[in-house]
Amino acid sequence: MAAATAPTSLLLLLLVSCTVVFSSTSEAFDYPPLVKGLSFDYYKTSCPSLESVVKKYLTQEFKKNVGLAAALLRVHFHDCFVQGCDGSILLDGSAGGPGEQDAPPNLTLRPAAFKAINELQVLVTQACGQTVSCADISALAARDSVNLSGGPGYKVPFGRRDGLTFATQAEVLNSLPPPTSNVTALLAALSKLNLDANDLVTLSGGHTIGIGHCTSFENRLFPSQDPIMDKTFAKNLYLTCPVKNTTNTTVLDIRTPDTFDNKYYLDLMNRQGLFTSDQDLYTNKTTKSIVLDFAVNQTLFFEKFVYSMTKMGQLSVLTGNNGEIRTNCSAINKSSKSLWSVVEDEGRSDAL
Ligand code: HEM
Ligand SMILES: *[C@@H]1O[C@H](CO)[C@@H](O)[C@H](O)[C@H]1NC(C)=O
Ligand SMILES: *[C@@H]1O[C@H](CO)[C@@H](O)[C@H](O)[C@H]1NC(C)=O
Ligand SMILES: *[C@@H]1O[C@H](CO)[C@@H](O)[C@H](O)[C@H]1NC(C)=O
Ligand SMILES: *[C@@H]1O[C@H](CO)[C@@H](O)[C@H](O)[C@H]1NC(C)=O
Ligand SMILES: *[C@@H]1O[C@H](CO)[C@@H](O)[C@H](O)[C@H]1NC(C)=O
Ligand SMILES: *[C@@H]1O[C@H](CO)[C@@H](O)[C@H](O)[C@H]1NC(C)=O
Ligand SMILES: *[C@@H]1O[C@H](CO)[C@@H](O)[C@H](O)[C@H]1NC(C)=O
Ligand SMILES: *[C@@H]1O[C@H](CO)[C@@H](O)[C@H](O)[C@H]1NC(C)=O
Ligand SMILES: *[C@@H]1O[C@H](CO)[C@@H](O)[C@H](O)[C@H]1NC(C)=O
Repeated sequence: MAAATAPTSLLLLLLVSCTVVFSSTSEAFDYPPLVKGLSFDYYKTSCPSLESVVKKYLTQEFKKNVGLAAALLRVHFHDCFVQGCDGSILLDGSAGGPGEQDAPPNLTLRPAAFKAINELQVLVTQACGQTVSCADISALAARDSVNLSGGPGYKVPFGRRDGLTFATQAEVLNSLPPPTSNVTALLAALSKLNLDANDLVTLSGGHTIGIGHCTSFENRLFPSQDPIMDKTFAKNLYLTCPVKNTTNTTVLDIRTPDTFDNKYYLDLMNRQGLFTSDQDLYTNKTTKSIVLDFAVNQTLFFEKFVYSMTKMGQLSVLTGNNGEIRTNCSAINKSSKSLWSVVEDEGRSDAL
């Protein structure tokens, strides 16, 4: 009797624990309240294949160019911080006025990301017609960039519409803090968007993938070395950036540069954060404890990242009948009236 029930209860126990493990790795995330007009099932009937089309394309492209994941994640961040997640960052200014070629430092967003979004838009339109906005494609591409790089797979609320206006130069400079910022300056910039210290430390974890140009961190090398930096780390940065103003790049996370994980926080603990804006998260007491929490618990980082990304992904979105669904992510629909006066490319001016 006892011999027969023991394996049965063991099996039951196994089943129970498998169920627990399964649900905690899939959709167990906590999401912030959704903005009116956005929903997780927005395209459920109008474009049921959206997610599979995007994921299939990006899986192929990341095999050819792993850096595309970081580039796409950053595009979504810049889109949302400047004038809201309205796809305005995708606009190619050459369509109707002075464009990106005339903007200040323009080498920090990768053209490959804009190309990928345009190609995705063509594929999605082939599958579903003119139903999905470029802003939504960008938010979804950012999610897949995170997940396909090893990060959490989370749900994206959809329903964003594409904006009809370019961002001005002043808006860009006002919205994107430079990498030379300390925590005080970063918190001031984020508070304008109702984002707090938790969001700051969490979202900065996006720097677990991708690269930065010497011009973005040479304030820590010239005229003298930032004393906070690990000495060996600094020595290697001088090899990459022997003088000011080169076009060389280096990775943002020296431990696992192409993997979305919590190693970025370990970098910070070891004084190997690349930008002042990274390293100060560990120097400043307000944010240090959050860095430590994430450094020892990746699950916690992933959970918070999903929460803060979803918050960021809903900043000043256009919904309902506002804005439009662009036929070409690089340009405002010809029939629409564009309202720009001072034309500027919002993506290319933050690495000052
Ligand atoms: C908090 C303030 C932030 C500052 C000051 C900042 C600054 C920068 C700078 C200067 C670069 C490198 C540009 C270059 O030299 O090429 C960069 C790259 C990057 N940033 Fe941020 N960033 C911030 C927040 C974020 C957020 C919220 C995300 C996404 C969640 C993000 C994701 C990325 C990624 C993925 C890259 C690499 C891009 C690539 O490899 O092409 N950043 N960031
Ligand atoms: C999309 O718009 C951009 C900017 O106007 C233009 O250069 C590009 O050729 C357009 N693409 C297509 C497929 O029409
Ligand atoms: C940046 O602008 C210059 C001209 O000012 C142009 O030659 C160059 O191709 C641009 N780079 C990128 C990445 O757009
Ligand atoms: C991607 O997301 C799914 C959940 O949707 C998760 O099970 C998986 O571990 C995530 N990471 C990778 C690398 O696929
Ligand atoms: C932070 O940077 C600002 C300038 O952006 C400076 O005025 C302030 O003193 C700095 N704060 C600390 C604590 O270093
Ligand atoms: C840390 O940041 C807080 C919040 O902005 C600020 O009040 C404090 O002065 C900073 N401390 C240091 C040591 O920079
Ligand atoms: C960086 O740029 C300088 C000057 O442009 C060059 O001499 C050097 O070899 C480059 N170093 C690396 C590591 O790419
Ligand atoms: C940095 O280099 C670029 C060319 O790569 C040049 O146009 C610019 O004037 C230089 N800036 C400084 C401050 O030397
Ligand atoms: C890590 O964080 C997760 C999510 O908040 C939590 O459930 C877990 O208990 C934490 N693990 C440790 C070892 O603290
Ligand atoms: C944008 O243009 C396309 C093609 O002309 C059209 O199908 C779509 O409805 C337009 N969107 C808006 C909101 O005007």
